[in-house]
Amino acid sequence: MSGQLTGKVALVTGGASGIGRATALAFARDGARLVIADMNAEGGQQTVHMITENGGEAIFVQTDVTQATAVEALISKAVETYGRLDCAHNNAGISGTGIAGGQRALTAEYPEERWHQVIAINLTGAWLCMKYEIAQMLTQGGGAIVNTASVAGLLGLPYASAYVASKHGVVGLTKTAALEYAKQAIRVNCVCPGYIQIPMTAQGMQDPARMALMLASEPVGRMGQPEEVAEAVVWLCSDAASFVTGHTMTIDGGYVAQ
Ligand code: NAI
Repeated sequence: MSGQLTGKVALVTGGASGIGRATALAFARDGARLVIADMNAEGGQQTVHMITENGGEAIFVQTDVTQATAVEALISKAVETYGRLDCAHNNAGISGTGIAGGQRALTAEYPEERWHQVIAINLTGAWLCMKYEIAQMLTQGGGAIVNTASVAGLLGLPYASAYVASKHGVVGLTKTAALEYAKQAIRVNCVCPGYIQIPMTAQGMQDPARMALMLASEPVGRMGQPEEVAEAVVWLCSDAASFVTGHTMTIDGGYVAQ
C-alpha cells in the first residue's frame, strides 16, 4: 500500500473497535505500518487481520492504557518491531454516561469508583501514552500525536461529569504538550467528535425517542461515521498538516457551532 504515510509507523489505542479501528484502516490504506493497542484482544486481532488481508502491515499489543508499565512496553514493542514511531492516535476511551442499569447521575451523585475509572482511562491513559510516545519521538527528531477528545471536551453535558472533565483535560493536555514540544518537531492535536455511530451508540439509539432527540440537536441531521473522524486523524498526522499543532478539531456535523 502506498500513500501520504508510506514508510511511517502509526500507533492506535482503542484500535479494536469504532473510531480507532477506522483510523487504523485509514492509516494502513495510506501506507503506514500499524501497531494496534487495546484491552480487547479479539477485536484488536480482527483489526490486524483486516489490514494484513489487504496487504498492509500490523501487529496487535494487548494493552491497558491506565498501566504505565504496559504503555511503556507497548512503545518498546512498536520500536522493536518497526524501528520508530511517527504517528500516534491516543483514542482508547469509555463513556461516562452509562452508569449501572442505564441510570444517569448528576455531579453530586456520581459514583466515585466510576469517576476514577473514566479519568484513568480517558485522561491518565492519554497522558501515559503521550509520555512514552514523546520520549521516543524526541530520539528520532519528531512525530505527530492526535488525541481523541470529544465535543464533551468543549461543552458541558448533563449527567456526564466525569466524561466531560476527562475530555476537557485531554484538550488542555493537547494544547500544553503542543507548546512544549513545538520546537522539537512534535505536533500534538486533538479531534473532538460529535455523535459517532459505533455499535455501542447505535444500540443506545434504537430507542426512537432518543434517536429523534439526537437528530434534532445535530445540524446535519445525522450521526457521524467513524471513517469521518479517521480521515481527520490521518490528515493531522500527515505532512500536509505540518503547520498544525495545538489544534482542537471538531468533527461533529456543526454541533458546537450552534
Ligand atoms: P469504542 O467502544 O468502539 O472504542 C473504544 C475502544 O477503547 C474499545 O476497543 C475498548 O476496548 C478500548 N479501551 C477501553 N478501555 C481501554 C483501556 N483501559 N486500555 C486500552 N483500550 C481500552 O468507542 P469509540 O466511540 O470508537 O471511542 C473511541 C474514542 O472516541 C473514545 O475516546 C471516545 O470517548 C471518543 N468519542 C466517541 C464518540 C462517539 O459518539 N462514539 C464521540 C466523541 C468522542
